[in-house]
This record gives sequence, structure tokens and C-alpha cells, in this order.
Amino acid sequence: MRTIEEILSAGDYISGETISRELNITRAAVWKRIEALRAEGWEIESGGKRGYRLIAGDSLQPALWQGRLRTQALGRGEVRYAVSVDSTNSEVKRMAAAGAPHGSLCLAEEQTAGKGRLGRTWVSPPGVGLWQSLLLRPKLPPEQAPLITLVAAMAMAKAVRQTTGADVGIKWPNDLVCGNRKICGILLEMSADPDAIEYVVVGIGLNVKRGAIPPGLEAQAACLEDLCEALPPRRDILRAYLEAMEAWMGRLEAGGWQAVAADYRAMSRTLGQAVRVIGAQNFTGTAVDIDSHGALIVTDAESGENRTVYSGDVSVRGLMGYA
Ligand code: BTN
Repeated sequence: MRTIEEILSAGDYISGETISRELNITRAAVWKRIEALRAEGWEIESGGKRGYRLIAGDSLQPALWQGRLRTQALGRGEVRYAVSVDSTNSEVKRMAAAGAPHGSLCLAEEQTAGKGRLGRTWVSPPGVGLWQSLLLRPKLPPEQAPLITLVAAMAMAKAVRQTTGADVGIKWPNDLVCGNRKICGILLEMSADPDAIEYVVVGIGLNVKRGAIPPGLEAQAACLEDLCEALPPRRDILRAYLEAMEAWMGRLEAGGWQAVAADYRAMSRTLGQAVRVIGAQNFTGTAVDIDSHGALIVTDAESGENRTVYSGDVSVRGLMGYA
């Protein structure tokens, strides 16, 4: 039997009478459920005799995108949509601890304690971004986990290009950039023992509308609204991301980094660039390659030697700006 959300998601007017027959409940009970959905943030029009019609707008409600999702597992396990949550990464960790399966997802309109890399905060106001985290239980050894960040960046870059036409690229390891400005960040968190990954949480924050950019960061941060003529609904970007992520994760699990390296290189905005490495190591040089564990190989400008840079302990900046 369909849920009331699925019935409304068909998009046309549907009478209270038809809904009550399909769900085998009274008209008054239908009205109560419609009111409950409205309280959750669903925009539902009442058209007199014609009944009810869902105004999908930019809603992220799972019932609006799961039906057309072409994946085996991603976005299909336990899917939690929240109007407000502390952090979708934290929520997915709680779901994982309670046994949620591979492919589970949390998406939120707003995060009150969004987390960024290197212990930073990720500002996540309501309705202006795609704030979501995916739970993976991958078939990979723990030392290859950083490669998942790179694959997630590829998947989101492809999704953004496909749905908006915006010319985004990847700044190693995990930022999507357009020109010299960041539009998206990725935070990977993992639970593993020395031999096996228990789970990985892949959290992505994509700036969609102008309100996503914290005041003062306009020179370093961009949003999709500035980069494309017509914004697609956020759920279309999410669906394209989940489909690309599942395809590339399958290739990574089957064939290791070599199976996805060429695609990553084609989207990279870091390789071939002069960069400054800041953090546990501090030097300038030229980014020349990514190794089989996802680390960046930088030729040191002073010594001419190749140095390996790990994502956990550095920021990498272009010499002329952020990207
Ligand atoms: C970065 O510092 O660039 C990474 C930012 C990652 C932000 C996303 S938003 C969804 C998910 N939940 C979080 O708390 N963080 C990630």
C-alpha cells in the first residue's frame, strides 16, 4: 500500500475521497494527516473539490526523489530527513551504531553544529544548501579509506555539472571549486579496527543559495545560484550524486585507485598547479600526482624532491589564492 507521501508525490490534484479510499481511513483522518505533513514543512495546496496538490518546490523529502533513484543501495537503506539536526555526520554515526545498513542517508534543511575538516565549523543555515551524509560499509582495507573522499568529490562534481552545467573542479583532496572559490566541502569520518572498516560516513556540504555563504567569506566561497541560470531542485543534485557515487565506489572496490584515477585527474584543479602546503608540513612546490592511497605528491620547489602530503594534516592552497 502506498503512503500518503507517495500518493501526493505523483504531483496532480487528488481528492480527499480518493486518498481516504486508498488508505482505508476516514476523510477527517486524511485531513489530519495532511495537516501533520504541513507541520513537517510539506507545502500542500487545497484546491476545493479537486482535493490536494503537493507543491514540490525545492523539497528534499525522500518520497519526492527515491522513486526515480537508480541505485542498488545508496539512498535506499535507512533514510532520515530532518528539518534541523546538529550535524548530519553525527546523526549518521548514531544510525550506524544502531545498525543502519550500507547506503543509509541523513539529509537536513539546517545543521546547528555542522562540522568541517580540521576541527572547523561548517555554517549550515536552513534551506540554502545540500547538507547530507551517507553511510558506507565498504569492501576496502582501512588504509584505502581516504580514497573514498576523492571518489565522493568526483561524484558530487559530476552531479553538479550534469544538473547545473556549472564548471566545477576538484581541489585536492575534497573541495569542489569554481574558479578560485569553494562551493562544496567533504568530511569523511570512519570507524575501523586495524584490519577492516566498520563504516565510513561521507558528509557533503554544497552551497546552493546565496544565504549559504557565511558573511565575510564571499571572496573564497561561491554557491550554485551564482554559477548557473536556473537552479535545479536540490533533490535532483542529490539523486545524480548517489548514482555517480555508487558507480565509482563499485569501480574503486573492484579495481583500486587505478580504476578511477583517470577520471579524478580529468576533474582535478590541483594537479599541475603551484601549491603551498600549510599545516604539519609547510613548503611550496608543484602538485604532480595522487598516490594509490589518495595522498598528494608535491615536488618541493627548494629541494626538487617529491614529498607525500596526507589530507588529514594539511591545507593546500594555490599560490595565487584559495584553489
Ligand atoms: C570542509 O571543511 O570542507 C568539510 C565540510 C563538510 C560539511 C558537511 S555538511 C554535511 C556533513 N555534516 C557535517 O557536520 N559536515 C558535513
